[in-house]
Amino acid sequence: MPLDPLLPFRLDGKVAIVTGASGGLGARFARVLDAVGAHVVLAARRLDRITAVASECREAFAVQCDLAEPGAASDLVAAALDHYGRVDVVVNNAGVSEPIDAFDETTDKFAHTLAVNLVAPFELAREAARAMVAAGEGGSIVNIASLWGMVGVGQIPEAGYAASKGGLINLTRELAAQWARTGVRVNTLAPGWFRSEMTEGRMFGDERSEKWLRQRTPMGRGGEPHELDGALLFLASDASTFVTGSIVCVDGGWTAV
Ligand SMILES: NC(=O)c1ccc[n+]([C@@H]2O[C@H](COP(=O)([O-])OP(=O)(O)OC[C@H]3O[C@@H](n4cnc5c(N)ncnc54)[C@H](OP(=O)(O)O)[C@@H]3O)[C@@H](O)[C@H]2O)c1
Repeated sequence: MPLDPLLPFRLDGKVAIVTGASGGLGARFARVLDAVGAHVVLAARRLDRITAVASECREAFAVQCDLAEPGAASDLVAAALDHYGRVDVVVNNAGVSEPIDAFDETTDKFAHTLAVNLVAPFELAREAARAMVAAGEGGSIVNIASLWGMVGVGQIPEAGYAASKGGLINLTRELAAQWARTGVRVNTLAPGWFRSEMTEGRMFGDERSEKWLRQRTPMGRGGEPHELDGALLFLASDASTFVTGSIVCVDGGWTAV
């Protein structure tokens, strides 16, 4: 057989659910998975936005959902199965972040952050893995965490966010260990700073914050949109068939120091 090291990265005919696909990193992830042949199920609250991203894809399906609602993640998996009959990849990308001092962070706000950033990804992983195991073909779950899952920051106060992303990272390890012999792999992609709705005006577009970011990041800059493509494709595809429970940091060296 001829050597083709890029072949395992293809996802032709596979079905990938991407949450938070209405903008930012999630819209990019959806386009990248579409580009390597996957049928993409795009999920978010803003239907107009996911419909627009879906229309740019070869073959995609938009599902409006609020992942803070109990059961929404299970319903999303059911919708994907109804439409395509299978699920092979889940990108748990939807997330919320709103910096606030811990003394002012209400328990309700903390719980809401955990509901979207940690509880929904668990439910989505559980229901998708159930379908993957039943189909007997395995699959890949990619949890999008953050440098906040690895370290504290403090100067930008985010207790709920840090707890959710730290929880997501160890949830990754536990699910990977539980499901290692089923063919379902679970990994984390932990980005550093990237421009998006979440960071616009807060970290980017504000000279003082950008200077702080450049000084704190060993590489001296934020990430460019395409700089997550390789890590996403590696974890989502058969390029990483012997990789589970791993954390891939794409952060310009932030968590290396
Ligand atoms: N940008 C960065 O620098 C950075 C760094 C590290 C980690 N991350 C992580 O990367 C992921 C994407 O972040 P981003 O920067 O692309 O943020 P973003 O532009 O704010 O996008 C967040 C996405 O999550 C969706 N979402 C939020 N709440 C939801 C809910 N209740 N139900 C369903 N969908 C919901 C939003 O869609 P709707 O509003 O339409 O529902 C949106 O598509 C997040 O998990 C974030 O924590 C980002």
